[in-house]
Amino acid sequence: MSETSAPTSQSDDPRARHQDLVQQVEEHRARYYGDDAPTISDAQYDALERELRELEEAHPELAEPDSPTQLVGSARVETGFASVRHRERMMSLDNAFSLDDVAAWLARIGKEAGDHPIVCEPKIDGLSISLTYERGELVRGVTRGDGTTGEDVTANVRTIATIPATLSGRHVPELVEIRGEVFLPVEAFERLNERLLEEGKAPYANPRNTAAGSLRQKDATVTAERPLDVTTYALGALEWGAARPHPSIGTQSGIYEVLAEWGLPVSAFTKVLRGIGPIEDYLEDLEAKRHDLVHEIDGAVLKVDDRAAQAELGSTSRAPRWAIAYKFPPEEVHTRLEDIRVDVGRTGRVTPYGVMTPVLVAGSTVTYATLHNRHEVKRKGVLIGDTVVLRKAGDVIPEIVGPVVAARTGDEVEWQMPAECPACGTPLAEQKEGDKDLRCPNAQSCPAQIVDRIAFIGSRGALDVEVLGEKAAAALVESGVLANEARLFDLAEADLATVPLFTLESDSRKDGVERKAGDVSTNGLRLLENLAAAREQPLWRVIVSLSIRHVGPTASRALATAFESMDAIRAASEDELAAVEGVGPVIAASVKRWFEVDWHVEIVEAWAAAGVRMADERDESVERTLEGLTIVATGSLESFTRDSVKEAIISRGGKASSSVSKNTDYVVVGANAGSKAAKAESLGVPMLTEAQFEALLAGGPAALDA
Ligand code: IVH
Repeated sequence: MSETSAPTSQSDDPRARHQDLVQQVEEHRARYYGDDAPTISDAQYDALERELRELEEAHPELAEPDSPTQLVGSARVETGFASVRHRERMMSLDNAFSLDDVAAWLARIGKEAGDHPIVCEPKIDGLSISLTYERGELVRGVTRGDGTTGEDVTANVRTIATIPATLSGRHVPELVEIRGEVFLPVEAFERLNERLLEEGKAPYANPRNTAAGSLRQKDATVTAERPLDVTTYALGALEWGAARPHPSIGTQSGIYEVLAEWGLPVSAFTKVLRGIGPIEDYLEDLEAKRHDLVHEIDGAVLKVDDRAAQAELGSTSRAPRWAIAYKFPPEEVHTRLEDIRVDVGRTGRVTPYGVMTPVLVAGSTVTYATLHNRHEVKRKGVLIGDTVVLRKAGDVIPEIVGPVVAARTGDEVEWQMPAECPACGTPLAEQKEGDKDLRCPNAQSCPAQIVDRIAFIGSRGALDVEVLGEKAAAALVESGVLANEARLFDLAEADLATVPLFTLESDSRKDGVERKAGDVSTNGLRLLENLAAAREQPLWRVIVSLSIRHVGPTASRALATAFESMDAIRAASEDELAAVEGVGPVIAASVKRWFEVDWHVEIVEAWAAAGVRMADERDESVERTLEGLTIVATGSLESFTRDSVKEAIISRGGKASSSVSKNTDYVVVGANAGSKAAKAESLGVPMLTEAQFEALLAGGPAALDA
C-alpha cells in the first residue's frame, strides 16, 4: 500500500479513508460535546460514525484503541468544571436504523428470537447525567464526559425541581449512581425562544442544545431560570450497605419501579414486550406520537428486561450488547441554500422562498421552503450559499431553521428583496404601513397574480375544476387566450386550439373520432366539460373563486347563506355585511371595496352572462332543524366529507364551527378523532355518533331524546 496516498474524502484506500473519517468524527464529536455549534446534522454524524465502524469491522487492523469508535461520549474537551470519575462507566448505545437492524439485534441476543422480554422506552434527546446519592442524599451530579470522567455540575443539578435532594421509600441504599437524561420540555423551549425574539436576541437552535447550554452554566442561578427536567433510566454503581436490597431490582422494568419509589421521574411510555411483531408495533406507534411527548425523542431504546440475562450478554468496550437504540429517520438535516427567490401569489403578496440542494428529511425530498417575508429572512440570518438547518417535523411544512454559521466559507452573499415585481415590474409596496409583507399592487394585469387566481378557481376549495391547475392557467394566460379570469367560462374549443398545451401533436385523441394534429386534445375537451359543470357549483364556491381578500370558505358560506345571491351581497351596506355571523367589519370592508372596482364587477358580470350560478335557490324541502345550534364535526365520517358535513349543517340553519368551546352544542365524533373529542369531553359538550348526527339533521334535538 502506498504511503503517499492523498487524504481525499472518498479515497478507495481504506487506510486513507479511515484516517479521514477519524479526523471528521473527532472534529464533529468535539463540537457536539463542546461549546462550538455543530456543523453537521446528527444524522450526518451517525452516517460518518457508522461508515467508520463498518470500515473497522472489515479491516480490524485499523481499529486502534484510540479510534473514536472506542470512546463513549466526548473526549478531552476542556470546560472549566471540575472533573469527576464515575464509579461505574457510563455506557453508550449501539444504533439500529431500521426494523431489520432491530430484528438482527433480537436474533443476536436470543437463542431464539422472542426468548427475551424486552423493555421498550423512548430515547430522550437530551444530555445524560449521573446522580450520586449517598445514604439517600444527593451528593453529586456529573455529565457523561468521556464515559469514565465527567464534569461536576452538582450546583446546577440541584436547581432541577424534579430531582429529589433526598430519596424516599423503604429501600434506600448506602450509595447509588442513577443515570438519566436532562432535557428542556419542548414547550419551555418554544416559550424561551419567543421571549428571546421579542427581546431582539438570537433564538436557540433546538431544545437539546438549550438544555446543554443551561446545564453547563457557570452561574447556577441562570440554570435555575430554565425549567429543566429529567427522566431516569439506569443504575450505575449500587451498594446497599446495611439497607435491605429492593426485591424488584432483578429486572430492568423493576428498576423503574424502584426509581419511581425513590422519587425520581421515569418514562410513562415504557412497555415490556416479547417478539419482533409487538416491538415493531411499539416503534411505529411511538414514532407516530413522537411530537406529543413533553420532550423531544430521537428514537426508542430496547433493553433486555432480565438483569441476569443482561449480565450474561455483557458489553463491548463502549456499549452493552443487551440494549440497542432504534433511531427514527432524522427530522433535521443540513443542506445548501442555493438561492432565494420570490413568488407572487394570487393576492399580490410577494413571498421569498429558499431553493435548496434537494435533501431527504423525515421521509420526503425537499427542495423548496418558504421564508415567509423579508423580515423572516433577516431574522433567520441566512445567506445565499449557506449550509442551512432544514427541519420537517411530522406533518409540518419544511422549515429553514437557520444557517450553520461555522460552515461559512466567505463566499455567501446576502439576499436583497426585489424592489419591483419580478412578473410585471410594478414597484412593490406595503399595503398599509408596518405590514410585514410586500405586495405587487398591479392586481388587474400582473400575469403572476392572474395565473394564480385562475389556478385558484380550479382548486378544490373553490370551484373544483379538474385540469384547471397552475400549468393550465399559465398556458391560457401566456398564449393570450385569457387576459384575466373574466372570460374563463366563455372558453370554447376554438380558443383552446391556439394553446399548445391543449392541442394534439399528432392525431392521438382517443375518442374514436377522426382527428388531426392541431385539434384540441382530450384533456382540453375535459377542461371545457369541467368548466361547464363548475357553473352549477353553489354560490359560496363562486364567492370564494373571486379571490376577495380575507374572504375564504367560511366567510363565503356565511355571505351566501345570509344573502342568497351575488346581487344582494353587492347591494348590501358595509354594516349589513358586518352584521352577518362569521363576517365582521374587516371582511365587510374588504367585500365592499372589492365591488367598487370596475374590472371586478366586469368579472362577476361576465361570469353571470356565461351562466355561472349567482344565486342559491333555497331548497324548501330541507327543514331548518338546526336553527341556533353550533356543531363541530371531527374525525372521519362514513357518509360525509368535510364539506358535505358543513353543507348539511348550514343548510338546516345551524352553524358549522371548527373549534370546540363551551358555546358548542354538539360535537360529531367520527373515526380517528383527536383532540377535539377530548376537548368536548373535558367541557362536557354532548358528543354524537354519525347515526345520532343523522337523526339530529332529520328531526332536530328532539329526535335525539326519542
Ligand atoms: S440507556 C447502559 N435509555 O442515549 C445503557 N439511554 O445514544 C445506558 N438515552 O448515552 C443508556 N434515552 O444519554 C438509555 N431511555 C434511555 C435513553 C438513553 C436517551 C441517551 C443516553 C445514552 C445515549 C446513547
